[in-house]
Amino acid sequence: MTEAKRRQAPRDLRLRKGGTPIVCLTAYTTPMARLLDPIADLLLVGDSRGMVLYGFANTLPVTLEMMIAHGAAVMRGADRACVIIDLPWGSYQESPVQAYRSAARVLAETGAAGVKLEGGRAMAPTIGFLVERGIPVLGHIGLQPQAVNATGFRPQGRTAAEEVTIPADAQAVAGAGAFAVVVEGTAEPVARPLSAAIDIPTIGIGASPACDGQILVTEDMLGLFGAFKPRFVKRYADLAPLVTAAAAAYAEEVRQRRFPGAEHVYAAPPLSD
Ligand code: KIV
Repeated sequence: MTEAKRRQAPRDLRLRKGGTPIVCLTAYTTPMARLLDPIADLLLVGDSRGMVLYGFANTLPVTLEMMIAHGAAVMRGADRACVIIDLPWGSYQESPVQAYRSAARVLAETGAAGVKLEGGRAMAPTIGFLVERGIPVLGHIGLQPQAVNATGFRPQGRTAAEEVTIPADAQAVAGAGAFAVVVEGTAEPVARPLSAAIDIPTIGIGASPACDGQILVTEDMLGLFGAFKPRFVKRYADLAPLVTAAAAAYAEEVRQRRFPGAEHVYAAPPLSD
């Protein structure tokens, strides 16, 4: 008898500490989730979607309703990967109770397994509050895009102060009970020792190959987003020129009345006698 297919849970990923690296990608839609689900261990419905799909300059305008709509879409396309949904800016920083209400809505209305929230020591009490009440939390330290107005999108871990605060953030998030922590845009000398220093998996994005897993924004990896390519992005495909070429070929055929062809139109109904 074959083993029944079971979705990866946050606790499964927690147990991968120090093992085979955890493969994580972002997904915002059902079709993309269907493509990535057989490959990735974790699909993150990131608030990066605000920039990638909605054209916002940063992630701050993203709402809880948007996260829930896209989270539910991803859940409809994934039955194997662990699906985690970002809590958007302003939906959790006010208090642990506000965070609980937001996270409970996300989980109830999407069926996802947990939430991600940004912040280290300042958010540790909130992470603990959620975890103690049965909500798995993925932490996020280092470069925190929701803090863009304070820090910009500048890589972190390059000042003497950040050499101290980032490891302290990692310890705080792990101590609060997060099942794993994303380390974003953090200089290698600060990022590398983090994985050995804490007992939960580190998921790197512009951090260090020593992390217990890696994540990329899927559209970055596919060459579908943005003229600017941050240093940490590796393009595994360059799809934008393919889209342009396909659209141009379609436009040409429409203008020359070569599309639709005979094979694309419906024949007349059979005559009845
Ligand atoms: O919003 C997002 O996609 C993220 C990843 C880049 C980690 O937070």
